[in-house]
Amino acid sequence: MNKNKFSDKFPLIMRKVQLGKTKEKISVIGQGTWGIKQRKDKAHYEQWKKSLRRGIELGMTHIDTAEFYGHGISEKVVGEVIKDYERDELFITTKLFPMHLRYKSMKRAAYKSLKRLGLNNVDLYLIHWPSTLTSIRTQMKVMDDLLNEGMTRYIGVSNFSVEQFEKAQSYLKKGELVNNQLHANIKRQKHIHKSLPYYQKNGITLTAYSPLGHRGFTNLNRDIREKLNPIAKNHNSTIQQVAIAWLINHENIITIPKAFHLEHLESNAQAADIKLSQNEISIFYKLKILELDDTSSEATKNTLNTSSF
Ligand SMILES: NC(=O)c1ccc[n+]([C@@H]2O[C@H](COP(=O)([O-])OP(=O)(O)OC[C@H]3O[C@@H](n4cnc5c(N)ncnc54)[C@H](OP(=O)(O)O)[C@@H]3O)[C@@H](O)[C@H]2O)c1
Repeated sequence: MNKNKFSDKFPLIMRKVQLGKTKEKISVIGQGTWGIKQRKDKAHYEQWKKSLRRGIELGMTHIDTAEFYGHGISEKVVGEVIKDYERDELFITTKLFPMHLRYKSMKRAAYKSLKRLGLNNVDLYLIHWPSTLTSIRTQMKVMDDLLNEGMTRYIGVSNFSVEQFEKAQSYLKKGELVNNQLHANIKRQKHIHKSLPYYQKNGITLTAYSPLGHRGFTNLNRDIREKLNPIAKNHNSTIQQVAIAWLINHENIITIPKAFHLEHLESNAQAADIKLSQNEISIFYKLKILELDDTSSEATKNTLNTSSF
């Protein structure tokens, strides 16, 4: 079968950056897939596939999924899309649901993700969030072994505090954590201020999830809007593009907005080129109302102990 070598066909607009300390280059803006749900009609899945394809063609080649999303449906839909592209032009991340209790069930879950994605390996495999049901030591044994077996090219975590990240790294025999996927955006700056300096110092990539506050930043408070509007005007862009650009104008940050609608997707891709001034970046550090907690993250919607993040 003739696969789409999209980089020959489309002028790539997407900037790529180094992943952690590796030699890997990853698109600074990728594609989130949390919204691919179970039991939807055909049109829902077709629209998702269209968006994912368009995103790939615009260079948003990092696709983020998880076994948790739509109970595996997200991985399946991603798999159906990526089979038409050259594997080495894509960067696929998926995540281990931390409700698996034992080494064996975690391993089984990892290979089930591969099957749904139709891949021999993923590029990055993450622990979705820390669990109190099983130890970080056991989880890291799984990650070390998956890396050795070639199930994944790189490993990382998500929703881990710096302390948990360091502990996880210390349990790894061979592997190195290259990434922590964290909730970060102009309204939720906790990780920008508390964790990012650590990741910058240690050459680890921070993937900012929910860069548009999960709902597209449609009802922002006045304080934020008043700061965003003139900057958006200055860059001839939308406030959402500025919000995405703000994240990736920080060293070591990449992001994965989710966009079902093509106009959102295309707009997000263009944000990669927005270069904000130091003043435009730091103006958001001075917001009056900052949500510094993490109460809407996927992790806190579950019954696991998530009190530390
Ligand atoms: N590791 C974790 O625990 C974790 C937690 C949450 C999310 N994530 C990952 O991060 C991804 C992104 O986060 P998210 O899904 O929470 O939300 P998000 O990307 O912050 O926001 C998505 C919402 O913004 C809208 N939108 C997208 N681009 C827009 C634009 N240019 N202008 C206006 N509205 C726009 C989308 O609309 P349409 O979809 O209708 O186009 C959707 O309603 C997820 O999909 C998932 O892959 C990971």
